[in-house]
Amino acid sequence: MKNFDFHAPTNILFGKNQLQQLPNVLEQYGKTVLLTYGGGSIKRSGLYDDIYQLVGNDAKIIELGGIEPNPRLSTVIKGVELCKENHVDVILSVGGGSTIDCSKAIAAGVFYDGNPWDFVVNDGIELTKALPIVTILTIAATGSEMNWGSVITNEETKEKLSFHTRLVTPKVSILDPTYTFSVPTYQTMAGSADIFSHLIENYFNQTTDTMVQDGIAEGLMRTVLHYTPTALTEPTNYEARANLMWASSLALNGLTGNGKTGVWSCHPMEHELSAYYDITHGIGLAILTPRWMEHVLNDDTVERFALYGHRVFDLELNEDLYITAKEAIQQTYDTFVKWGVPMTLPEVGIDASLLKEMAEQAVKHSSISKNAYVPLSADDVLAIYTHSL
Ligand code: NZQ
Ligand code: ZN
Repeated sequence: MKNFDFHAPTNILFGKNQLQQLPNVLEQYGKTVLLTYGGGSIKRSGLYDDIYQLVGNDAKIIELGGIEPNPRLSTVIKGVELCKENHVDVILSVGGGSTIDCSKAIAAGVFYDGNPWDFVVNDGIELTKALPIVTILTIAATGSEMNWGSVITNEETKEKLSFHTRLVTPKVSILDPTYTFSVPTYQTMAGSADIFSHLIENYFNQTTDTMVQDGIAEGLMRTVLHYTPTALTEPTNYEARANLMWASSLALNGLTGNGKTGVWSCHPMEHELSAYYDITHGIGLAILTPRWMEHVLNDDTVERFALYGHRVFDLELNEDLYITAKEAIQQTYDTFVKWGVPMTLPEVGIDASLLKEMAEQAVKHSSISKNAYVPLSADDVLAIYTHSL
């Protein structure tokens, strides 16, 4: 296990009716609130009205609605301007990863002298201050509610990149699983695929002897496999939604990734697909993950894949580890199919025309060619994309 610095300071208020705590929570940070949200699901669910009822009289609320899935730089810039004009004290971010990520970039952008894209492209640039963020999560997926990352799309350059700073880790996140009852089927499976992928990305890593991290990841993977079918067939099943919601936060708050080295594999490949074609992140990951697994299966990785099959899918460990490993990859694929995920790129509107360009960009925008679990060249990425057609 490698050295690490684990810091997960978000105060999680989990469960039914936790929204009642919102007035006390916001009061700690100030009176002028930027309320950020997406395309309108919070209005349809009634959450928007509930927020106004609880804090509308005491706080001055400025709104930034319409944050798009795969949030855009132009929306970040709009949010920064709103905060500066209105001297906003705190951002209340209500929605999924897109709304929270956009809010993180706004929070840091307010105190950055220049275009926020600078600190996204140049992850690691020193940021000194950010507005505090409180989130109300409405979809289980990214873990953004409890972490320090944010992914922003520059629609002009077709780049989707992430930045990280502890300054934007949410101070408080309200996780009421009933708010996810209205998440549609497509987004429910995309969210589960995203959680699963975060666990896979951390699990397949060159660092060995990380039994703590791996055991937690296995438990969370089994949770996602167990509860996703229920959430899909019974969207208002509280226990299913609750388990998925908590799995979302724990899968990407450092718990399963700290103590390991290297970079992820499928996320850099998927981010190019969403940057070029604006597809749903989790669906792109589901399509790529089994193809990536097939591509990197070799004598060095076979034991890990076989153990994954044994511990996550309860497969018997065959003496010939390749048999178990291949069955594990097949089970991964079949799981996404059973959920109903479209499992080819053409089904989400992607043809062969830009695959080569996207493969080159994936390598340019990350260090997967150097320090992924199995390093991937642009040709490797192209082969994985091509197998996904
Ligand atoms: O915009 P609204 O109307 O709210 O609708 C959203 C949106 O259309 C809908 N939705 C959310 N909650 C709902 C609901 N519809 C009905 N009822 C509800 N309760 O779902 C759609 C997707 O929302 P979005 O926020 O885009 O989903 P998600 O949470 O999957 O976020 C995806 C974004 O996060 C990034 C992705 O790349 C993508 O841009 N990621 C962020 C990470 C992070 N910050 O740590 C890590 C991830 O790997 C990921 O890259
Ligand atoms: Zn993800």
